Amino acid sequence: MVAQTIPVDPFDLVILGGTGDLARRKILPGLFRRMCAGQLPPEARIIGASRSGLSTDEFREFVRKAIGEFVKDSRCESEGVERFLSLLEYEQLDIFADDGWKRLKKHLRKDVISAFYFSVGPGLFGEIARKLTKHKLTNDNSRIVVEKPFGRDLSSAEALNKELTSCFEEHQIYRIDHYLGKETVQNLMAIRFGNALFEPLWNAQHVDHVQITVAEDLGVDGRGAYYNKSGAMRDMVQNHLMQLLCLTAMEPPAKYGADAVRDEKLKIIRALEPVPPSDYVRGQYSGEGAGDSYLDHAQDPDSRTESYIAMRVNIANWRWAGTPFYLRTGKRLRARMSEIAVVFKDPPHSIFEGDFNRKGNALIIRLQPDEGITLRVTIKDPGPGGMRLTEVPLDMTFSEALGDQFAFLPDAYERLIMDVIRGNQTLFMRGDEVEAAWRWVDPIIKGWQESGKQPLPYDPSSSGPDDALMLLHRDGRRWREIKS
Ligand code: BG6
Repeated sequence: MVAQTIPVDPFDLVILGGTGDLARRKILPGLFRRMCAGQLPPEARIIGASRSGLSTDEFREFVRKAIGEFVKDSRCESEGVERFLSLLEYEQLDIFADDGWKRLKKHLRKDVISAFYFSVGPGLFGEIARKLTKHKLTNDNSRIVVEKPFGRDLSSAEALNKELTSCFEEHQIYRIDHYLGKETVQNLMAIRFGNALFEPLWNAQHVDHVQITVAEDLGVDGRGAYYNKSGAMRDMVQNHLMQLLCLTAMEPPAKYGADAVRDEKLKIIRALEPVPPSDYVRGQYSGEGAGDSYLDHAQDPDSRTESYIAMRVNIANWRWAGTPFYLRTGKRLRARMSEIAVVFKDPPHSIFEGDFNRKGNALIIRLQPDEGITLRVTIKDPGPGGMRLTEVPLDMTFSEALGDQFAFLPDAYERLIMDVIRGNQTLFMRGDEVEAAWRWVDPIIKGWQESGKQPLPYDPSSSGPDDALMLLHRDGRRWREIKS
């Protein structure tokens, strides 16, 4: 059974960069799916704005194509497309000139929520914020939505926060990390705080270590210019992996509310120890000869940018002291696989004789694909031959367990945009959180820049550089296999 959807309040949503790639692939198709699910009220209005000189009809054609290309949802019927297109308006806008803003203002209603999605390069965020206030397009009930990257280091993130908060209150600023919109990422909180079973064991006394993996099989194809200035640390660790780490490690918030959750995440980021060079491994995929190589895409033959990073992270607090968190992420790896594995310690004493080569209990939360959870438990190896033990997975795949309800779930962007309209900031990053993350990341990046070291080469479709295996081997542990 598909859960009932409650429509949000009427709104005007302005998409700045309305003809850009993110709008075409994610934002507009996502809004269409929300309409099909009954979540958009008939009074919703979506206003595309960009430099392109399109008429409203041409913008609607652009959106019709985007829906054709990116929406594969059996609930969305063709008359729904017409209904959705009728909600759309368009305005040509040169961000630096005043006249477009004056015209854009005429599209906005006074008595509904207004939201402005900055779907443009971060270099334009400050100017847009200033223009919105200068031309009085916003009021106390307006929200702005900004995409990552939020700065490229602490000082640029601080400067950006300053620019935005000089025009808007923190409660009006929605900084997107789309990982927080993923169903399974939120499930992490449900699993931890909705069950009495796990929380008593969720600490250094019982957890041996945690592995957080976000592996991608795709390379940087087509995004080389952006990615080469960023690398895996800025592109993935500073935001997505950090969020996964926080949700896994944080203390239970007093309630599921925006500031309660974000306060707890912030405490974790502030408790992260510095990471010395001996505790991380950087890699760059390199298919010699005919194979795919990072350098083919980097637009810089000498690039030292990492397309892979693995690191050992310590959290200096009472709950986690002595239990390392191993993080790894990379492009062009063997498979697309994201998961969090909480590996528990062995029982304190074995009553069974012999070496059973046990791996210990583990709770594996699969974020994508094949979302679900697995609890690895030890049982008796069936049959005669004495008391031998073996491991079996207690497995649950959400798509099987939840059927249609799971198939029609909103994707990360859809959910987050609806949260913006609802005014719920729980799944968005607060300014102090982003700055704290950069404060931890900056010295690590500075360390390797000063060392001048090249990232280690790894084969495309592998698990990353061999040295990353050593990071765990030397601690007597093993990475879980990257497989589809
Ligand atoms: C983005 C990164 O934020 O996340 C990309 O910039 C990465 O490099 C992407 O591929 C991964 O997102 P997902 O949802 O496909 O896991």
